[in-house]
Amino acid sequence: MDYIIFGIIAYLLGSIPFALIIGKIGYKIDVREHGSGNLGATNAFRVLGIKAGSIVIIGDILKGTAAVLLPQLFDANVYPLIIGIIAVLGHTYPIFAKFKGGKAVATSGGMILGINPFLFIIMIATFLLSLYLSKYVSLSSMIAGIVAFFASLFFNDIGLTIVIFLLTAFVTYRHWANIKRIKNGTEPKITWM
Ligand code: G3P
Repeated sequence: MDYIIFGIIAYLLGSIPFALIIGKIGYKIDVREHGSGNLGATNAFRVLGIKAGSIVIIGDILKGTAAVLLPQLFDANVYPLIIGIIAVLGHTYPIFAKFKGGKAVATSGGMILGINPFLFIIMIATFLLSLYLSKYVSLSSMIAGIVAFFASLFFNDIGLTIVIFLLTAFVTYRHWANIKRIKNGTEPKITWM
């Protein structure tokens, strides 16, 4: 029963399309029609600017964190990592946006924040270092996942390692178009770092 209740809550939380909501309410812009068309924080930064992008990234991270912390708050009998995966699937295939959502990065980070904050810090540090060196958000997202996988080996939690492996594979799959663009030199680089 706990899995049904907290699974549904996690999916609905994950489904909240912050990039779409902030774009439409604050700017009368549908981010799906601009930039990469992705319903994620990167495209919100790109299309709407730093203020909107910041709100979207915080929202997308915290919905993953909330999904894994809620069951703990109610002492529910669920495995937080499974609930976290459901939140990520909500973000990627949101019921509130025709099942076309983001690329799983921020919400995956948020669920890791709720489960292992130290690993989250490693992910953020890796992401920022990679972004500084490469200027590619997409590549840095995938590298953060790969480094998180290896870092997770130090926590003696096989479940965590397996889930991070699966999430990193999923994030890579969701970035297939970005990978192609990186290969042929058309992936946009950030200019502010
Ligand atoms: O989190 C998504 C990011 O890694 C890439 O987004 O809009 O450049 O495809 P985008």
